[in-house]
This record gives sequence, C-alpha cells and structure tokens, in this order.
Amino acid sequence: MTTHDAPIGVFDSGLGGLSVLDAMRARLPNESMIYIADSGHAPYGEKTDAFIRQRSKAIADWFVARGAKMLVVACNTATTHAIRHLRDTLSIPIVGVEPGIKPAALATASGVVGVLVTAATLRSERLKTLIAEHETRCRFVCQAGHGLVEQIENGHLNGAVIDDLLVRYLTPMAQAGADAVILGSTHFALLVPAIRRLFGNRFMLIETGTAVARRVDTLLVEHGLIARANPEIRKDVEFFSSAQSVEQREALLAVVGGLATSDARSSVSYVEIAHALTEPQY
Ligand code: DGL
Repeated sequence: MTTHDAPIGVFDSGLGGLSVLDAMRARLPNESMIYIADSGHAPYGEKTDAFIRQRSKAIADWFVARGAKMLVVACNTATTHAIRHLRDTLSIPIVGVEPGIKPAALATASGVVGVLVTAATLRSERLKTLIAEHETRCRFVCQAGHGLVEQIENGHLNGAVIDDLLVRYLTPMAQAGADAVILGSTHFALLVPAIRRLFGNRFMLIETGTAVARRVDTLLVEHGLIARANPEIRKDVEFFSSAQSVEQREALLAVVGGLATSDARSSVSYVEIAHALTEPQY
C-alpha cells in the first residue's frame, strides 16, 4: 500500500464522530478510512484533561502503527485537550473539530447564540478564547450537556430522558433570545431530529462536519496524499469500538446503518468491531 492509499484514521469517544465521518465519506468517497469509537471510555466530557490527552494519544499511536496517513480527531473535547500534544508528538497531518462559534456569530440575526458543549470543553481555555474573539458581535449562552452523551452511547437518540435534558438545556437559550444553537459536541449532531421535534425551527443548529471534511480534503491535496485508487469505487470503512456492552455495540451499528453514506457494501465491515485498544496508564 502506498502512502496515498493508506487509510485516514478518525476517532471519537464514541458515536458522535460518525457525523464527521459521514461528511468525509460524502466528499472523499475513494479514501480508505478507519473509525474508532472509544465508547468504553465515554464520556470524555466528564473526564480529566489528563485522561482525555492520554486516551487520545493511545488511539493516535494505534492509528500510526497501522500506517494511517492522516488523523481526524472527530471530537471537540479531545481536540480541545489533546490536539496540541498530538501535533507535537506525531508527524502525520492532524485535523480537529471545534465548536462553530464563528459561523454562528455570522449567522445569528438576534445576536444571541446558545452553545451546547461537554463539561470538559466548557472549562477549556480554547472555548474561552474562541468566544472572546466573537463576543463583540453577539452574546453566547453556554451550557454543559451533562447526561446526553451517556444516553446517546446507549442508543437513546429519542425518549423521555433525552427530551427532559434537551428541554432543560435549550429552553433558557430560547428564553434569552437565541436564534442559533451550536452543537459543540459531535454527539449532539445526532440529536438534531429530537431538537427539531421539541423546538421546531426555533434555532439554526450549527455543527461543523462539512467544514471538517472540506479541511481534510484541502490538507490531503496540500500534502500530496489524495488516494490514487479508482475514484469510481467507494472504499469501505473499518470500524473498531472499545464498547463494553451489547447496548453500546448495537447503538454503534444502528447509527452506522443510518448514515447517509451507508450502503450494503460498507455495512459488511460494520461487524468488524473489536476491543482493539490497550489501556493507557493513568
Ligand atoms: N463527541 C465528543 C465531542 O465532540 C464528546 C462526547 C463525550 O463527552 O465523550 O466533544
């Protein structure tokens, strides 16, 4: 396998990064990709900065050992707490995901924007910096989405618990006059249907999967790494998961099966879910 045809490694603490993977596959159908859902260690958003950094490094090293040509950190929380360390220690190009503060600031008409992120992202310096850069333009109402990721990881994208949490977190944003909500965890992109059901078109929902896919494309071109394989053939994705429970494994398969770029061929590799990661030392 030449470097061009080497896979792109994509990871998240679980299912959230699949929304990013979907956008990448739509844009770059002939790239090989490997996805790791680190569901056995989710939610990252409730862990310490050191845990997130060590776990991200263990996964990144695993990808490098498999010859990945690029790494996509499809997780806002891991990007915030680990991407600098990854860039300092690895030589492959690395793309991260950040809450869409700038696009939301440009899109809002009311001048009030809701920001739904994980607790770890909320306390990060990076988010504070991003917000400070755009605070003259609009006001941000920030909220940690405690409990949402656990529900999603167990396959509950709808239901009473999710509804209660979303109503509790988004109602104050609506009351403050927000016309846009930033889905600042890739997991929350999976809640768009539930938010629409509960709040209708009250908010523009801002997520960054398409922008990340564009950035990956640009970087592949810049580094001369675009796949040379037959562009007519969509490549399969290899999926790995550290999920501990049957519920989590079934949730992964359900979300993968519902992706826009899902097809019969690629579904064959969805059974390839393995406990492939070694535990980092804490
Ligand atoms: N999907 C991750 C993100 O984008 C966070 C989920 C978690 O807390 O594990 O921030």
